Amino acid sequence: MDLLGAMALFLVICLSCLMVLSTWHQMHRKSKMPPGPTPLPLIGNFLQVNTSDMYRSLMKIGEKYGSVYTIHLGPRRIVVLCGYDAVKEALVDQGEEFSGRGEQGTFDWIFQGYGVAFSNGERAKQLRRFSIMTLRNFGMGRRSIEERIVEEAHFLLESLRGTKGVPFDPTYFLSRSVSNVISSIAFGNRFEYEDKEFLSLLSMINESFRFTATAWGQLYDMFSNVMQYLPGPQHEAFKKLLGLEEFITRKVKVNQETLDPNSPRDFIDCFLVKMQQEKENPNSEFSLKNLVMTTLNIFFAGTETVSTTLRYGFLLLLKYPEIEEKVHKEIDRVIGQNRSPNMDDQTQMPYTEAVIHEIQRFSDMIPMGLARRVTRDTQFRGYTIPKGTEVFPVLGSVLRDRKHFARPEVFDPQHFLDANGQFKKNEAFMPFSIGKRYCFGERLARMELFLFFTSILQNFRFKSLIPPEEIDISPMLVGFATIPRFYDISVIPR
Ligand code: HEM
Ligand SMILES: *[C@@H]1O[C@H](CO)[C@@H](O)[C@H](O)[C@H]1NC(C)=O
Ligand SMILES: *[C@@H]1O[C@H](CO)[C@@H](O)[C@H](O)[C@H]1NC(C)=O
Repeated sequence: MDLLGAMALFLVICLSCLMVLSTWHQMHRKSKMPPGPTPLPLIGNFLQVNTSDMYRSLMKIGEKYGSVYTIHLGPRRIVVLCGYDAVKEALVDQGEEFSGRGEQGTFDWIFQGYGVAFSNGERAKQLRRFSIMTLRNFGMGRRSIEERIVEEAHFLLESLRGTKGVPFDPTYFLSRSVSNVISSIAFGNRFEYEDKEFLSLLSMINESFRFTATAWGQLYDMFSNVMQYLPGPQHEAFKKLLGLEEFITRKVKVNQETLDPNSPRDFIDCFLVKMQQEKENPNSEFSLKNLVMTTLNIFFAGTETVSTTLRYGFLLLLKYPEIEEKVHKEIDRVIGQNRSPNMDDQTQMPYTEAVIHEIQRFSDMIPMGLARRVTRDTQFRGYTIPKGTEVFPVLGSVLRDRKHFARPEVFDPQHFLDANGQFKKNEAFMPFSIGKRYCFGERLARMELFLFFTSILQNFRFKSLIPPEEIDISPMLVGFATIPRFYDISVIPR
């Protein structure tokens, strides 16, 4: 007993010392860091936040400490940036310093620092430059991305006609079409809408994306170090992500076996060619692992964000039929009924553009941004942020910045229209983020939003099962992502 007792006592003393030291260390370093609530050892400011409502928790703490503050989410020490000024000063004016990528517990479990989106340093640079160039090349090819979207819109319209006015949940209708656009780029082909494998991929994407928005997903984001070894719903999300990785790995194998370096068919082929070219370069990041993970980044990001935005948008139009009516009128005036919409129509459709912008603003797809990280010791607004510190550019606080939007909590296309009904840009419109790591899928996403949106509204009007007054447009979940409530819609041919 004596030996055991002594050992236990020793351990307790050691642990206490460690805790005191770590708190002291954090307080000491805090002196140059932005201010923030005092953290407890190990759990940080966990007791001051609500994992069901992280966005609002962060905003509330910001009311006390200002638009730049420090928070400890479990062991993660994070600088939070709220509002347009702080986010722009950091991500644009000090772009290089804020260009690192922070953590996203759930996704990091599968990516482990590989692939374009969740990597840092030289790896991120090489993969990003390559990905942007390759996407651009596909856009300029004989069959441009725009044509591909218009073609996919026709499949979507056909499937909507098939509903014959019966109410349905629009989730899969939208995600199948959106996903087919990025699938054509990544894999060189679209899927049939009834394809079983396709549907299972979509549900894997849907469910892992949804997990990141739940309270459990947010908790996992803080304590992933421990929770990855404990039971819980995170393992369901991991299983889905693994399923997606396996699918891409299979695709890559097939491409390797059939590759013709002189005529690359898709993103994977282009990457394989690049791997061969860089074989002799010891610093090359063009490895099989980065190929699989980058393709997964693009497939995932290219599917769920755009389709969730459209799904939120249609709910908003059910709520505000008078706005839908104005879009119909503009479509009839500019495009008519005899041809498909194309990107040249966009500049002549200020009202529709304003509605789509307002949908993106209101739906606030990634409310706390994708975590960044400072790449070196950084001076910012008189503070010193040590190299490697994570940063949350809270995009939702920019999209609802009172200095830039008259009625930030209200869905109102007037936010993007001037007195003459012309489209009015707003610098605080940044759902795709800004700076060195901003979303390079932006151009593709904007094309998809415009072409799918106008194609559908050219051909159908929406009907709700319940009166507009009773439709709840507040989100169902707000975590890493914002997820709208489930709803049914019926579409009536015009
Ligand atoms: C409505 C649609 C979309 C929204 C709201 C959105 C939003 C975002 C945001 C907020 C980021 C974080 C950027 C940052 O850290 O500054 C991001 C990154 C990224 N997005 Fe998107 N995105 C959308 C569509 C797409 C599409 C269609 C693709 C397909 C190519 C895509 C691919 C990516 C990639 C690869 C990154 C990581 C970039 C990097 O780390 O350098 N996104 N997106
Ligand atoms: C946390 O946020 C959720 C969602 O907004 C809310 O329903 C719940 O009451 C909040 N919990 C606490 C303890 O404030
Ligand atoms: C997407 O995922 C959610 C939650 O996992 C599920 O309830 C929903 O049915 C899925 N969407 C569709 C259209 O099946």
